[in-house]
Amino acid sequence: MADPNAISKMEKIVALCKRRGFIFQSSEIYGGLNGAWDYGPLGVELKRNLKDYWWRCMTQVRDDIVGFDGSILMNAAVWKASGHVDTFSDPLVECLLTKKRYRADQIEPQSGTAYYYKGITTSTQIDLPFAVLVPKGKPEASAQKTARQYYVSRGHAEADIVSLDLEKSEQVENSTKFNPENGALLSEPRTFNLMFKTYVGPVEDASSVTYLRPETAQAMFVQFKNVLDVSQKKLPFGIAQIGKAFRNEINPRNFTFRSREFEQMEVEFFVKPGTGPEWLEKWLEERLAWYEAIGIPRSKIHVLTVPEKDRAFYSQGTYDLEYEFPFGTQELEGIAHRGNYDLKQHAEHSGKPLEYFDEEAKQKYLPEVVEPSAGVDRTVLAVLCEGFAEETIKDEESGKEEIRTVLRFSPRLAPVKASVFPLLKNKPELVALAKNIYKTLQPLLKVAYADSAAIGRRYRRADEVGTPFGITVDFETLEGAKEAVTSATGAPIAAGQKDTVTLRHRDSMKQERIAIAELPAYLLTKIA
Ligand code: GAP
Repeated sequence: MADPNAISKMEKIVALCKRRGFIFQSSEIYGGLNGAWDYGPLGVELKRNLKDYWWRCMTQVRDDIVGFDGSILMNAAVWKASGHVDTFSDPLVECLLTKKRYRADQIEPQSGTAYYYKGITTSTQIDLPFAVLVPKGKPEASAQKTARQYYVSRGHAEADIVSLDLEKSEQVENSTKFNPENGALLSEPRTFNLMFKTYVGPVEDASSVTYLRPETAQAMFVQFKNVLDVSQKKLPFGIAQIGKAFRNEINPRNFTFRSREFEQMEVEFFVKPGTGPEWLEKWLEERLAWYEAIGIPRSKIHVLTVPEKDRAFYSQGTYDLEYEFPFGTQELEGIAHRGNYDLKQHAEHSGKPLEYFDEEAKQKYLPEVVEPSAGVDRTVLAVLCEGFAEETIKDEESGKEEIRTVLRFSPRLAPVKASVFPLLKNKPELVALAKNIYKTLQPLLKVAYADSAAIGRRYRRADEVGTPFGITVDFETLEGAKEAVTSATGAPIAAGQKDTVTLRHRDSMKQERIAIAELPAYLLTKIA
């Protein structure tokens, strides 16, 4: 049973995302498109900051990884060689009553009494088997109601049904053969390939079929040789890519968590044969530290050692990093030891050698690969869930108690880094100076300017979108500081010193003074 507080937290996050322009439903005015989402003005900044930070950590500050940007459409032979055409599928079941489709492995086991009907009697006997599961202790009448709906849905008029022909009833334990939503029997599972098929060029026939990529990884394997040659790297070395991936998920759900269109951030890290297991451990530590650096504490990430039976077909060992989302602890990133599976497959299928020449060992071999593969959208969602808080506070102006909604983003990810406010809108000197500060900071970092409503309301609106710093131009800015204080940077501010502003911190709501001239350097250090 889902925790109602967690559901309500998720609902609040979804509502905030829409209200403040983080995430909208795709094609909303046409009723939406299941599994697709649009990032609004603040969402796109958050997502971009996240991707930029990943890019910086994975490529710019390392000498052993180079960047790459592959195409979404590739030769269909890639997907045959990679195994996706034959095996990239989920087991699908269909509710016989509603025709709704589900992933068979996500059906929650049910217990109760199952009623099996052979068919119905109308003017004749009609053979049409169906079954319904009702919870223990519920009368057969509720099974009959569902069964009647089924027979009506199959074209038999309710008035014509003389009787339902019960074959047997039995107690079942932990069965996944029935729809948890209505008890109706589900179809036998069949495999459903998750790749979106499309045609290249004007002729729609078998020769023009290809697929929207279901992972960004394959282009990096296929281009391994080209990238290696131009970058002149020695093992271990990696290729990093951020880009869209598409999967025709049977049940997109939990907001952006399981979407049909999403982005991945993947590294294919090529290592000497036999060293894959050791690199898997190194990457696990590396990635855990990365999540901490974006404000997701280690205590909220569960490391799952994926058992062999659940691993992807190519994997020799996988860790799933799972985050405690309000809807459950679920996968954020997979770190897999893919062995040399992919390079081997592509070398065989393309007929082109993809070996690495080890100059020291004077040997040619196919490297092994360790792949940290993270979802952009899932990480954005984790960052939103982690940052979201509602707290009872005393209003800074009126002293009254109120609920403050805040997104405690790490400053490096926050969509807007600082908001600049004149204390009062109707004081031209304050407004002019605030606008001046805003314009000075604008080329350096993402800032906002707001002058309408009371200052407390403006602070609250900035808290709600996770802006870490508020900069207020007040009378002390014009007239000089009331008393000598230490500035936010630690520098002294003398009594009477002009051109200082109030710097308000989102999380503590603490207010300090800082010289205007110190603002750029101070803010840039905080968001780095
Ligand atoms: N190249 C390996 C690979 O694609 P994966 O575990 O299937 O591995 C990696 O996907 C990551 O991509 C997942 O951990 C998740 O963050 C993200 N992802 C996968 N399917 C997704 C979906 N339907 N919606 C959003 N993100 C998804």
